[in-house]
Amino acid sequence: MRSDGQMLRAVLKKLQRSGDLFECRTPVDPRFELGAVLSACQNERPTLFTSVKGHGMPVAGAIYGNRRVFCDLLETTVPERNYKLVSAIANPAKPAVASGPAPVHENVVDRGVDILKMLPVPTSNGLDRAPFLTAGMIVHRDLETGRSHMAVRRFQVNRGGSINVLVSGASPHLRAMLAKCRDLNKEVECAVVLGYDAFLLAASQIGSQKYGLDKYEVDSALRGEPLRLTRCRTNSLLVPAEAEIVLEGVMRPGNAGPEGPFAELMGYYSPEGAAPLMDVKCLTHRNNPVFQHAFPCREEHLAYGLIKEAEILTALSQTVDPVDVNLTLGGGCRLHAVVSIRKRHPGDGKSAILAALGAYKDIKHVVVVDDDVDIFDMRDVEFALASRFQASRDLVRVDGALGSPLEASHAELGVTDKLGFDATKPLGANAGLYVRSNIPGFENGADLSRYDIRAFNGRL
Ligand SMILES: Cc1cc2nc3c(=O)[nH]c(=O)nc-3n(C[C@H](O)[C@H](O)[C@H](O)COP(=O)(O)O)c2cc1C
Repeated sequence: MRSDGQMLRAVLKKLQRSGDLFECRTPVDPRFELGAVLSACQNERPTLFTSVKGHGMPVAGAIYGNRRVFCDLLETTVPERNYKLVSAIANPAKPAVASGPAPVHENVVDRGVDILKMLPVPTSNGLDRAPFLTAGMIVHRDLETGRSHMAVRRFQVNRGGSINVLVSGASPHLRAMLAKCRDLNKEVECAVVLGYDAFLLAASQIGSQKYGLDKYEVDSALRGEPLRLTRCRTNSLLVPAEAEIVLEGVMRPGNAGPEGPFAELMGYYSPEGAAPLMDVKCLTHRNNPVFQHAFPCREEHLAYGLIKEAEILTALSQTVDPVDVNLTLGGGCRLHAVVSIRKRHPGDGKSAILAALGAYKDIKHVVVVDDDVDIFDMRDVEFALASRFQASRDLVRVDGALGSPLEASHAELGVTDKLGFDATKPLGANAGLYVRSNIPGFENGADLSRYDIRAFNGRL
């Protein structure tokens, strides 16, 4: 068992040890200001806001927005991450139900829950309809299999204990279950968890429809020890025992209300629509709880992107010899893919384009490069495009396919055009033209920590 325990508290300790946790002591307003500070750091710098105006509870933000930090927290490295994720999906392990009292039940409020009074829920962007829980993870149970389900969703916080739950088209499983409950006039018990760790977040991003897995079991495989769960106080759902905060409640059949506008993945507002309502009956929390927040939405979608990258890599390996995939931050970790391959046959570059586009419909543009290009260094990717790609020969274009509804031009047209750029070198006689220069003895660059280099302060 890890000495730091599980969930957000353990993450904060680990980040503090690695020097990755920052503290903002200046009082910030949860309405706009807190999010503005996170955005100014690209939502990539894990920050603990210890003074939030109007609330005594600290807020942790941008905890999972940086790829290297996320991989550290998953106890893997960027190059190794796909293997760890795929192996956990293929070899799920059992979680454990904690026998003793659970930290998340140190405080139980089961009457008169008023979320906005109790929690420092931020409002992020100008036209957002209300404050939103943007990092909450909803847990419910499958009506037929009895399996636990959980996924991060956004929750619009209304008055008292009322919240809207946004269930997107990417979650057909939950949509179908809600429709069935409406037909059977059955309530859906649910819980919203705040204050989880990277293992649970990564596991939560697996599509239920695709794998039919219990994500708690994927989590346990990923963390290499059983996830410790506890039963909710007002229903029989299992939630992480060491989470910070849990909201327990029900969704009643057909009970929906207006949700949005809300600034979404690419920073565009999703319009008002109807979304299921959850009635929060009970709020439990640890002593001195930390509120978890994710500024919407780009960088915190890294978690979703990490799972998709592993899936795309698996799909690519059916046809080519792939090295790695980067769903880039600039493309919301969804719309732009850079793929590196070990090219073995003349058609590999184009086959990789087709495989990537086929593996994930949200990809709009894909660049395929050789394995001597660093796909996480956009300057290196641009180098490949600039010097290895010719549009008349290497461009693949598909008009009017399905894309992601979370970007404006798709919203306008209802479909998306796709482009694939084969920026790999040719094989054979012309390969010699593409030999890259190198500095002998410094192939991976000079280690600047070995040199005393400082701002010049001498006389000229
Ligand atoms: C920060 C963050 C916010 C998200 N917000 C939503 C959301 O509001 N609604 C939604 O349906 N999915 C949202 N997702 C994506 C789901 O968590 C993801 O599609 C998950 O795989 C769905 O699981 P399911 O197939 O079990 O429903 C979000 C993901 C992240 C990382």
